[in-house]
Amino acid sequence: MTREQSRVFGEAADAYELGRPDYPADAVAWLLDGVRGTVLDVGAGSGKLSRAVAALAFDVIAVDPDERMLARNATVDTRVGTAEAIPLPDHSVAGVTAGQAWHWFDQAAAAAEVGRVLMPRGRLGLVWNVYDLADEFSRSLVEVIDPGAALSATEDAPAPVAGFSPFDEAVFSWRRAMTPAGVEALVRSRSPFLIAAPTEQQRTLGAVRELVRTFVGSQEPSVEIAYRTYCYRADAVG
Ligand SMILES: C[S@@+](CC[C@H](N)C(=O)[O-])C[C@H]1O[C@@H](n2cnc3c(N)ncnc32)[C@H](O)[C@@H]1O
Repeated sequence: MTREQSRVFGEAADAYELGRPDYPADAVAWLLDGVRGTVLDVGAGSGKLSRAVAALAFDVIAVDPDERMLARNATVDTRVGTAEAIPLPDHSVAGVTAGQAWHWFDQAAAAAEVGRVLMPRGRLGLVWNVYDLADEFSRSLVEVIDPGAALSATEDAPAPVAGFSPFDEAVFSWRRAMTPAGVEALVRSRSPFLIAAPTEQQRTLGAVRELVRTFVGSQEPSVEIAYRTYCYRADAVG
């Protein structure tokens, strides 16, 4: 995983928006339970998590380094910036969220910046959608798009963040129906695909089309992907 790889998503911003999963409302409500005030969504991208936070009636500020991703983010207040240099004043937000993004940051620098912009006892909420490998289609898809990956049914919790309480964890299981075009967009939006050679990209797309053909229902032109949404919340201390 490299800094370059963390900045490729904008090349496929439309595919990202079409193909990537949203976040379940109950998962986002759990992340921000007890928070009152403005929430910063950092690494906000095209706004999948920003939208879910705004739907809970929070004011949201969306920060991301990639203007192509931010252009799809419907949040009123979007700002170009990074987790390591957040363009906000000290103690200005009640919560900070990061969806599918914390692992891309320099975590020590991001922790210091999140601690700076949060109000005292403010909330840090991290969330990842992960394929549910107990589901046959989801597992088969992972085997095609991540060949050789060590398949594990559980996720590693993020490392403790300096200046914050230990993380509480919650997991939410859900399923999502997708058209074959949606599955293809999902694959096209992944960073390993975006940095692969064209021949490797074509091989992956061919294998994904073949897999979808074998799973697509006879009545509905769709397949179902099963997800587990892993949520971690911690409060600033001191
Ligand atoms: C996988 S996308 C997640 C987007 C969105 N949060 C979501 O849940 O769909 C990762 C995002 O992190 C952004 N990103 C990469 N490096 C970053 C950094 N150092 N600080 C803030 N955002 C970063 C990328 O531009 C991209 O939009």
